[in-house]
Amino acid sequence: MQDNANKTWSGRFNEPVSELVKRYTASVSFDKRMAEVDIQGSLAHATMLNKVGVLSDEDLRAIQGGMADILDDIRHGTFDWSLDLEDVHMNVERRLTEKIGDAGKRLHTGRSRNDQVATDIRLYLRGAIDLLVGLVADLQTSLLELADKHAATVMPGFTHLQVAQPVTFGHHMLAYVEMLGRDAERLTDCRRRVNRLPLGSAALAGTTFPVDRRMTAALLGFEGVCENSLDAVSDRDFAIEFTAAAALIMTHLSRLSEELILWMSPRFGFIDIADRFCTGSSIMPQKKNPDVPELVRGKTGRVNGSLISLLTLMKGQPLAYNKDNQEDKEPLFDTVDTLTDTLRIYADMMRGITVKPEAMERAARQGFATATDLADYLVKKGLAFRDAHEAVALAVRYAEEKRKDLSDLTMVELQSFSPLIDAKIFDVLTLEGSLAARDHVGGTAPNQVRMQVARWREKLAG
Ligand code: ARG
Repeated sequence: MQDNANKTWSGRFNEPVSELVKRYTASVSFDKRMAEVDIQGSLAHATMLNKVGVLSDEDLRAIQGGMADILDDIRHGTFDWSLDLEDVHMNVERRLTEKIGDAGKRLHTGRSRNDQVATDIRLYLRGAIDLLVGLVADLQTSLLELADKHAATVMPGFTHLQVAQPVTFGHHMLAYVEMLGRDAERLTDCRRRVNRLPLGSAALAGTTFPVDRRMTAALLGFEGVCENSLDAVSDRDFAIEFTAAAALIMTHLSRLSEELILWMSPRFGFIDIADRFCTGSSIMPQKKNPDVPELVRGKTGRVNGSLISLLTLMKGQPLAYNKDNQEDKEPLFDTVDTLTDTLRIYADMMRGITVKPEAMERAARQGFATATDLADYLVKKGLAFRDAHEAVALAVRYAEEKRKDLSDLTMVELQSFSPLIDAKIFDVLTLEGSLAARDHVGGTAPNQVRMQVARWREKLAG
């Protein structure tokens, strides 16, 4: 017999693993964050075993008492985690047996670490998703506050980063509210597939004990059981789906970050970000850098990387469980942590933004933003759109040469491009007129923005 500390499976081995292999194969340093759900899963499993007559009342009571103590130790940080015991499951089980003796050894009846770990990840992720859905809603709420306040604040809307047409800052904020709305839907949808019970699948084929999987599922709040034991122990689709949804949220926030960074640059000067989200330069005393948005943009790469890690982790695995699967946790946990911090910081940051309407308006006046309005006006007077487009293009070229905005041209100048133009044109060419004219669902008219804010608030409240 060898002297391997891991007596859980060491019986058939002739020599202990080296220190390096022990460290290489252990997961306790990162999977200990699942300790609470691991205990929750064990308690449900034990309760079920007792109900079906596999575990005595006495054993169940002992397990419940021992687990309560262990939970206490873990919460107080006094639990002694051992690398020799490889992972969270064996650490907890060993401790339980030390505390309560043989009853602890009977807990693992009809169960394997394979279905146990799959259950733990699902319980952990379900909790994380519930928290994240709330954080997404809070970020949406912070954007709605800005949208409401700036429902009529004009700014240039861009395509190709060139001034295109006037929009309101509120409308721009609402675009992100929509993206985040889809993100929340994706998380909620993913949760349905997370929320299925693997336990009862045991190592891969099921168990010879008369388990009642539906009972265990009900005890743990799962909506159903995984219906194939081989699939149940090897499936990590749910983790990939979650990480994909997370990568998309980060992508949305990365785009917003890019905009905040541009807008804060003195070239734009559209906004200021509160000092507590920025840092200075160690060499250039005048600098105030938008560190938080830059890091969000940077950390998006990290979450995208986790998604690729998980996809790659799974692509070569034959059924059923393989040790490869232990590598699912770090990318998943890192994704949860990164996304949680990012959403929290973002809602706070958006609430601390100073909007500079004068700078936005000045910029909107600078790129012939109402040229389309002039073309639409000519079409309404009977000109074909392509002809109207051409007339306006000539007017823009002329105005550019004169260094004037379209609205600064005189009636005589304007009429030289089309005789259809009359005095009403000056309403059309103002930024306010341009905004107000886009008055339909999804348009940038201030009253549409206000209605959309109201709809979203109702949705988030319900
Ligand atoms: N620590 C392992 C993991 O994270 C638990 C399952 C181990 N199962 C096994 N048969 N080695 O996946």
